[in-house]
Amino acid sequence: MSNPTLLILPGDGIGPEVMTEVRKVIDWMGSSRGISFDVSEALVGGASYDAHGTPLTDETMEQAQSVDAVLLGAVGGPKYDDLDFSVKPERGLLRLRKEMDLYANLRPAQCFDALADFSSLKKDVVAGLDIMIIRELTSGIYFGEPRGIITEGNERIGINTQRYTESEIARVARSAFELARKRGNKVCSMEKANVMESGVLWRRVVTEVHEAEYSDVELSHMYADAGAMQLCRWPKQFDVIVTDNLFGDLLSDAAAMLTGSLGMLPSASLGAPMSNGRPKALYEPVHGSAPDIAGQGKANPIACILSFAMALRYSFDLGEEATRVEQAVEKVLADGLRTADLIGEEGVSPVSTSAMGDAIIAALDASV
Ligand code: NAI
Ligand code: MG
Repeated sequence: MSNPTLLILPGDGIGPEVMTEVRKVIDWMGSSRGISFDVSEALVGGASYDAHGTPLTDETMEQAQSVDAVLLGAVGGPKYDDLDFSVKPERGLLRLRKEMDLYANLRPAQCFDALADFSSLKKDVVAGLDIMIIRELTSGIYFGEPRGIITEGNERIGINTQRYTESEIARVARSAFELARKRGNKVCSMEKANVMESGVLWRRVVTEVHEAEYSDVELSHMYADAGAMQLCRWPKQFDVIVTDNLFGDLLSDAAAMLTGSLGMLPSASLGAPMSNGRPKALYEPVHGSAPDIAGQGKANPIACILSFAMALRYSFDLGEEATRVEQAVEKVLADGLRTADLIGEEGVSPVSTSAMGDAIIAALDASV
């Protein structure tokens, strides 16, 4: 059988720095676990603009469509602020998401015990937390028509439209149920069926998909405002949460911050299943290119390394290896290693990006 394929797009700023550390983990999988990937690498964002005059070439777009998974660092930076909108670095990322039709955005909120003090919530509320928020990413109120600002009489009116087709709801619901089967087997769907017709349809379609295809998974429903309260009160009651674009935008940001630093947060965006049954997939840290620390060896590589762990679990069916990587991260944090972003008051001295990567490799070595 041929090796699984992975396209790496390091991008700009700290993107290439954190990706160097991910490469160590990928190489380790090959040398120590006999799990080899066919890795190709290409430019994206400002780096691609500098070389090719466009933030994403057609060739790279085609490559992204043909691999099992794409892993991206970050794009953007002040150097590109004055560029025309059509060639801005962010356009490269937006084109990838749009043309790959990545409709399910996965944002885990996972709390490593060693960082539980970092949360603004009580330690026992967040310690051991591991939930996944799935936000519908390609439809809903950010895209619905009609939209705009109109004038009626002497009043201006701002208009946006929440619009979901049943197929859009069904496909993201399937993503949620599929994921739940690889985790805690529980899905909570959030909408506002009490005040929105789109929410009524959302609840109906999620229920239908559940009954027809996923009755082995536990399903519950919650109004999104109550869900926001429950996320702050006792987040560990959830496993997978699935919700629309707008509610998901808010709930995923709030949930992510239950657990601490931007330098720790991975994400995935999944699309339709390919011919091999796996979803089209783009994995990336939540953070940006961090121009304020780029080139200084200060960046935390963990968000990008955990993004690769998500790829292992959700694109390559290597859940055990994903857990191994997550446990290696847990171990180095428990040992007290901290990049600068993870240091609060206590005056620990920070380790560099590469020292953090090396320590994770050492922890992986110790795990076999
Ligand atoms: P940012 O996420 O790049 O940085 C925000 C703050 O967090 C900075 O102080 C940064 O030093 C810190 N930070 C971020 N990641 C870190 C890490 N791994 N380790 C340690 N500290 C980290 O967001 P910002 O400053 O708003 O945007 C900077 C550039 O990145 C802009 O050009 C923006 O458009 C772009 N951006 C790109 C994203 C992407 O590629 N998906 C997402 C967000 C922003
Ligand atoms: Mg947001």
